[in-house]
Amino acid sequence: MQLIDGKAVSAAVKERIRAEIEREGFDIGLAVIIVGNDPASRVYVNNKKKACEVCGIRSYEYALPEETTLEQLLELIDTLNSSKNVNGILCQLPLPKHIDEQKVIAAISPLKDVDAFSAVNVGHIMIGDYTFLPCTPAGVMELIHSTGTDVSGKQCVVIGRSNIVGKPMAMLLLHENGTVTVCHSRTKDLAEVCRRADILVSAVGKADFVTADMVKDGAIVIDVGMNRNAEGKLCGDVKFDEVAPKCSHITPVPGGVGPMTIAMLMQNTLMAKRLQVENG
Ligand code: GUN
Repeated sequence: MQLIDGKAVSAAVKERIRAEIEREGFDIGLAVIIVGNDPASRVYVNNKKKACEVCGIRSYEYALPEETTLEQLLELIDTLNSSKNVNGILCQLPLPKHIDEQKVIAAISPLKDVDAFSAVNVGHIMIGDYTFLPCTPAGVMELIHSTGTDVSGKQCVVIGRSNIVGKPMAMLLLHENGTVTVCHSRTKDLAEVCRRADILVSAVGKADFVTADMVKDGAIVIDVGMNRNAEGKLCGDVKFDEVAPKCSHITPVPGGVGPMTIAMLMQNTLMAKRLQVENG
């Protein structure tokens, strides 16, 4: 069994981006919006700002109170859409319940949508035109590539069908000619379906969800989960101790997918700058 080192792979990606930005002499700005006091979101936003520093990207934080209205948020996005200093806009999800996330996502200019969440960019991904990468799934693909594995013809099983991870993950695996199955809460015989996987990607959000009986010997297991266990410790979806011995490769949590999501965000922010330079 080999551990996939997401920190090392992401450090290499960020270094490449830093060097490209320096070579091009780009001045790049990323606006990061956080609404409310979700502690996990605060950690993610801080990590995104740190990555900006490493890459030589300016980050502008907009920390808004929990009671912010949809109208106020849309007004801020409008201002950022037309700001010359801001090349990318990221609104950390989840938003407080009273704010319609889809309306917020739709308000971000597709040219600055570095999460690739807007309908236009999701459409690009669907047809295989990766203007902006879906950050977490693209990070997972980099980790799979780092093992030297060719996805073509492999049985790939994705657990979870969210717009952020499951659905775009399936697309990226499909574009590399994987045979892809997407499982979800209504899937029958989940363990049996998962056991077929050469590449198993779990994006469920439940600690200890993936157990050894769900994993084929020699599989690659990618754990997208970010959960807290009973002791409050950060953990993924996979019951690591019992699953790891069966795998050819497995990602740890933390230090697996998480750092890659952020590295891909940096890549998208550089892409946003390029697009805006090209489009005047
Ligand atoms: N919440 C969970 N994952 C993400 C992400 O990739 N981007 C944003 N903006 N919010 C998230």
